[in-house]
Formats: sequence, C-alpha cells, structure tokens
Amino acid sequence: MLAVGFSCMAFVMLRIGDRKSEIKILSIGGGAGEIDLQILSKVQIQHPGIHINNEVVEPSAEQIAKYKELVAKTSNLENIKFAWHKETSSEYQNRIMEKKEFQKWDFIHMIQMLYYVKDIPATLKFFHSLLATNAKMLIILVSGISGWNKLWKKYGSRLPQDDLCQYVTSSDLTQMLDKLGIKYECYDLLSTMDISDCFIDGNENGELLCDFLTETCNFNTTAPPDLKAEIMKDLQESEFSLKKEGKVLFNNSLSFIVVEA
Ligand SMILES: *[C@@H]1O[C@H](CO)[C@@H](O)[C@H](O)[C@H]1NC(C)=O
Ligand SMILES: *[C@@H]1O[C@H](CO)[C@@H](O)[C@H](O)[C@H]1NC(C)=O
Repeated sequence: MLAVGFSCMAFVMLRIGDRKSEIKILSIGGGAGEIDLQILSKVQIQHPGIHINNEVVEPSAEQIAKYKELVAKTSNLENIKFAWHKETSSEYQNRIMEKKEFQKWDFIHMIQMLYYVKDIPATLKFFHSLLATNAKMLIILVSGISGWNKLWKKYGSRLPQDDLCQYVTSSDLTQMLDKLGIKYECYDLLSTMDISDCFIDGNENGELLCDFLTETCNFNTTAPPDLKAEIMKDLQESEFSLKKEGKVLFNNSLSFIVVEA
C-alpha cells in the first residue's frame, strides 16, 4: 500500500544533502525496514555513489532483528552504514538531551508511528530542531479525509481506550505544526483497504480486520450489540467506504507531510 507513494515521493529527496559528501538519515520507528530500504534506494538514485549514514530508532528487538536480516540479504547497500537504537522516540530524545550531542540530520522520517507517541508537539519540535540546513522531515499517517478519522471521531469514546495508541490524523498534526510555527506541505495519497470479509459471517480474516479497525480484541464477541450494529452499518456507508464490484473498500487514505528545516 505504501509502495505506491514512494514514486511520487522522489521530490521529497530532490534537495536533501545537496553538496554533501555524506547524507545522514534518521528513521524514527523504522520497524522491520521494508519502507526504509525503499527510501534508501530512492536516495541512492538521487545521489549516486554518495555515502549514507542511516540510523534507526525502533523499540522492538524483534523488528530490529528482522531489519538486520533484510539488510543482510539485500544487495547494493555497500555505501550505506546502518546503526540501530533499541528505544522509543522519547527515550532517544531524552538520551540526546542528556548527552547534549545534537548532531544534525539531512532527512528524518516518521512513518505510521506518531500514534504511539505521548507528547506529539514536543516530539515534533525536538526532531525539527535536529534538521540540518535544507533538510526535510517526512511524516506519514492516516489522513484527515480517511475513514479512520470518521471512525475515531464518531466512536472513539465508545471503543476501549488504549493508553498506548492515540487517535491522531494528518488534520490534528497540521494544526500542531501551525501552532509550533513549523513550515510544511501536506499531500494526500488516496488508498483503500478491502474490508469485505468483515461482513461475511464466521470469516476469520474478517474478524481480525474488525479488531484492527476498532482496535478491540475480539470485537465481534465483546462489543455491546448496539455499538457493533452501528459500526458494521457505518463501515459500509459512503462516508467510510467505497462499494465497488461487490467489495467494501475502507477509505484508508494517508497523508505525506513534508516538514522544512
Ligand atoms: C476518501 O474520502 C475522501 C473524502 O470524502 C474522498 O475525497 C476520497 O476520494 C476517498 N478516497 C477513496 C479512495 O475513496
Ligand atoms: C460473530 O459471532 C457470532 C456468534 O459467535 C457468529 O455467529 C458470527 O458469524 C460472527 N460474525 C462474523 C462477522 O464473523
């Protein structure tokens, strides 16, 4: 799904690291590295032969292990130096603040991770301060026009509140950036997710999808019947999903927010 966006993302890279002998990239919440490696290959194309220093902040040891495996079996990474920090973005932030080692970065990205950050404005402010001249920060998260926004606005208060995950979309984020006086551009990437299975009785994949959409464990069996009925009906409405060729396609549009140094 995200792969589509990366061809139109080349523009983000156009000016990063101009006239530099090394490009420094900081990946916040780099996960298992699939997207990171796509980004790196774009940077390599834009800046052939240049040395890249890619550091990853990722709290999950399991994800880091997968990332390392992926790097080991991918070719053409000779000019890239990798380093991993097993910590959350706020742990990284605290560590850097304590050591007062504020090195600057040419490109920082936060892809689908701000939901897990407690103090988003402080995080934005901190990482923005680490951008070198002409550097950029890329944030990807669900769009304010997506079905997620409507689902969270309408049902958020009736769904289990999870301390670890916040309902935040690009419209919340652009408001925060405006408040902080940080310059950015926001692009929507239209995308859908096939949720047809949710409406097939006894479909296992459908049950998992429903749990994912509502961030509820065993939604089908644990949710109050009235809430369940309302959500299942709404998910098929045009506000939330597109109906096409017998399929129900949830509006999963994402936003790419490009923040300037
Ligand atoms: C998602 O919803 C927005 C706003 O209603 C709409 O403009 C967009 O076309 C929808 N995306 C898809 C893929 O249906
Ligand atoms: C939800 O649970 C009921 C009762 O256990 C079951 O009959 C039904 O098939 C499930 N619905 C879906 C959509 O899986």
